[in-house]
Amino acid sequence: MRLAEEFREIIGHLKKRMMANMEMGLDPPTLSPSTLNYLQTGSSHLGSLKDLRGHLGDCKRCKLCHGRSNLVFGEGAHEARLVFVGEGPGREEDLEGKPFVGEAGRLLDRIITAMGLTREAVYICNVVKCRPPDNRDPESDEIEACIPFLKRQLALIRPEVICALGRVAVQALLGKNFKITRERGKWLSFMDIPLMPTYHPAYLLRNPSAKRQVWGDVQEIMKRMGLEVKKDG
Ligand code: URA
Ligand code: URA
Repeated sequence: MRLAEEFREIIGHLKKRMMANMEMGLDPPTLSPSTLNYLQTGSSHLGSLKDLRGHLGDCKRCKLCHGRSNLVFGEGAHEARLVFVGEGPGREEDLEGKPFVGEAGRLLDRIITAMGLTREAVYICNVVKCRPPDNRDPESDEIEACIPFLKRQLALIRPEVICALGRVAVQALLGKNFKITRERGKWLSFMDIPLMPTYHPAYLLRNPSAKRQVWGDVQEIMKRMGLEVKKDG
């Protein structure tokens, strides 16, 4: 009797994992159409950001897991109208498990405040959820392993606007041909959601003169969201 219960529990757990993976487009199971059909009836296994975080678990899907202290999933409003997508956690983010809490994060906070918004009202996340060693760029295998989770976050939130911060974010979403210096400030789209690419706040810390351009891009976002744009904000 106990064994049967245990068995049912294991099968239930496997089914949940398999369906969640399938929803993410990962590891398509080799099952007959009728079995798949049977499994797919019922509600989504990844119906919320909490479910998605649960599915990520103690992630070991790429080599970044070896150096991380904390996985940085993302935070903010689950119904955010605006999602900021950065590159990946840095040192402080890795230690705290929260996105954009270091120096670049403080600049992002100022940008959000200048828009008349708050950190709690938007959603902030990254292309990769674990810190690349020595803050190097995430590598393509790492991005590939992690991007289904970002896509799922965006699909669950369905914001009015995505703001992609910097080259790595915009190239991860829109392809390697994208040149941030040439194409920032132009409306693009990802998963049918309007996307505005702009410079990364860490870039602004090194190149303060680029703040003017970022403020221009941010004002475009504000206009699109119907937020009041003050002169010389
Ligand atoms: N830079 C990023 O791209 N993301 C963070 O979370 C922090 C710094
Ligand atoms: N180069 C980058 O990699 N990111 C920026 O935001 C700007 C220039």
